[in-house]
Amino acid sequence: MFSVCDNSNPKPEGQETLYGYAGSGLFGFSHLMGGFAGGQAEYARVPFADVGPLKVPDSIDDEKVLFLSDIFPTGYMAAENCNIQPGDTVAIWGAGPVGQFATKSALMLGAEKVVLIDHYQDRLDFAKDNNDNVETINFDDKEVHDQLKDFTGGRGPDSCIDAVGLESHGTSPDAILDRVKAAVFLATDRTHALRQAIFCVRKGGTVSIPGAYGGFMDKFPIGAAFNKGLTFKMGQTHMQAYMPKLFSAIEEGKIDPSFVISHRLSLSEAPMAYDKFNNLKNDWRKVVLTP
Ligand SMILES: NC(=O)c1ccc[n+]([C@@H]2O[C@H](COP(=O)([O-])OP(=O)(O)OC[C@H]3O[C@@H](n4cnc5c(N)ncnc54)[C@H](O)[C@@H]3O)[C@@H](O)[C@H]2O)c1
Repeated sequence: MFSVCDNSNPKPEGQETLYGYAGSGLFGFSHLMGGFAGGQAEYARVPFADVGPLKVPDSIDDEKVLFLSDIFPTGYMAAENCNIQPGDTVAIWGAGPVGQFATKSALMLGAEKVVLIDHYQDRLDFAKDNNDNVETINFDDKEVHDQLKDFTGGRGPDSCIDAVGLESHGTSPDAILDRVKAAVFLATDRTHALRQAIFCVRKGGTVSIPGAYGGFMDKFPIGAAFNKGLTFKMGQTHMQAYMPKLFSAIEEGKIDPSFVISHRLSLSEAPMAYDKFNNLKNDWRKVVLTP
């Protein structure tokens, strides 16, 4: 469980105060996670270099292995946490890069069908174009719970993956209240998608959470979770635990993670790219910066 390593976070006090115990250090993830600089740089200092890196042979394109350090294992762990059985339907909230990899991973792990939910139609279409056995729901046009019931013979999905995280969009009363409370600093995380996943999953199902959360959840539907007998699995991804296995899947040609790249730019174009990413997020799916 690399992401909860005891030894790699030199500044554990913050997380100990917030969470009881500190997780691992992470690159580019604030002082709570050790204060290590991120990798969008010409050079990066690599602590614990005997453990963290994976040796990649020259014969493999960098782009194919780049996402092994983040979103591919994240999507994969999210799907693995669903304990997918033959015939299962997996619903995934969020069609960003993590949702795209969760979709591919759920299908790799034997899901019969994936239903992907977002309101960016081109992200939903992208997933349909890149996979078989994917249905989509645009939550601006359709009621998510009803649609999921229709896709699953009235039972609900066997597992639900929240690949949205703490900035969930929505126009339902709970989503609006989250927004108002967050704006006046009375709430931290906006969790509408997670509440909806808990509501939609079938009885006895699993809710898997790769989407990042940092603080507190308002109006947690404990009644639904308790009375439906749900299982929850979540966490920062244990990257190094997945890298060798997923590297083999790439080497064997089972998956080419570079499908997710939308833009290739130089490092000096990063400020412009961040601006576009903020304002045109659906088009700027995943940007690769070359130093
Ligand atoms: N667990 C980990 O180790 C890990 C690693 C990488 C990323 N993450 C987290 O995963 C999450 C997703 O990352 P990403 O890069 O794909 O982000 P992203 O912002 O590109 O994608 C999120 C998508 O969720 C959609 N969305 C928003 N509200 C929604 C709702 N109510 N219902 C359905 N979809 C909704 C957005 O339209 C967007 O397309 C983030 O929270 C990120 O921090 C976690």
